[in-house]
Amino acid sequence: MRASSTSLLLWSIGSAVLGLTKSCPIADTSIIAHTGTPVGTEEVVDGVTLYVSKPGCKAPKVGVVYLTDVFGIQLAENKLLADSFARAGYLTVAPDLFNGTPAPSDLNDPTFNTTAFLAAHGPDVADPLIAKAIAYLRAAGVDKVAATGYCYGGRYAFRSVAEGKGADAAFAAHPSLLEDGEILTIAGPASVAAAETDSLMPPARRAQIEALLANTTQPYQVSLYSGTQHGFGVRANVSDPEQKFGKESAFFQAVRWFEAWV
Ligand SMILES: *[C@@H]1O[C@H](CO)[C@@H](O)[C@H](O)[C@H]1NC(C)=O
Ligand SMILES: *[C@@H]1O[C@H](CO)[C@@H](O)[C@H](O)[C@H]1NC(C)=O
Ligand SMILES: *[C@@H]1O[C@H](CO)[C@@H](O)[C@H](O)[C@H]1NC(C)=O
Repeated sequence: MRASSTSLLLWSIGSAVLGLTKSCPIADTSIIAHTGTPVGTEEVVDGVTLYVSKPGCKAPKVGVVYLTDVFGIQLAENKLLADSFARAGYLTVAPDLFNGTPAPSDLNDPTFNTTAFLAAHGPDVADPLIAKAIAYLRAAGVDKVAATGYCYGGRYAFRSVAEGKGADAAFAAHPSLLEDGEILTIAGPASVAAAETDSLMPPARRAQIEALLANTTQPYQVSLYSGTQHGFGVRANVSDPEQKFGKESAFFQAVRWFEAWV
């Protein structure tokens, strides 16, 4: 009998003796949905539409406020990713940041004016909507709130973890328009997932963000994923193994961050 067969035999006997029936815990990608039908519901609370996704497991102590890219809660992939956070055990709420009118799927649509859109959805408009989503989570009984944000919403994940804004930790994937002051004023831990190709957060800006995070007193993380582009945290091409790995890992990066720091 060869050595490998011997060890396999011994392992089998050992497993039988110990009664090991449960598989070992691993990063369980089965909780992530890339396609399919969203399982959450929309509720209108205090004038804002919230996409709410509830965990099937025990009452959550931590809630997640999910801050979308410019495609809003209307984009199925945003709802599906919010559902994945719910399956990770968090009551998850995504506010409709664009009041029913998100950006079109083709940002080059000639009728779409990006400058005007972004100007109409600055912090003066977004911050109060996010505060309502956080208030919903608190009213539902969560003790702590984690903010997760993508592209446009990444900036607001940072803003949400400033003093008095209500979130206890932040995760941002490929944040856009994030200002230096918004990094320096975080009052909780912040984690960033970065794309290899991202004109809104190129390598030089990524290095600046790292330097600014290092100048805070908070725990921080910046992780770079090869073969990914701006938007990959939500809209990866999951037929491409590198992009699929990047999107799933960015999700687990957020979950691990919240498990560790919230
Ligand atoms: C887009 O909106 C900006 C700001 O409102 C405005 O200055 C600009 O002229 C607009 N561009 C086009 C092509 O309409
Ligand atoms: C970090 O802080 C040091 C010391 O105050 C300062 O010299 C440096 O410019 C800061 N860097 C950034 C990126 O803010
Ligand atoms: C997605 O990735 C697959 C595998 O790399 C590729 O064949 C396909 O063309 C990609 N789809 C799009 C829309 O880029």
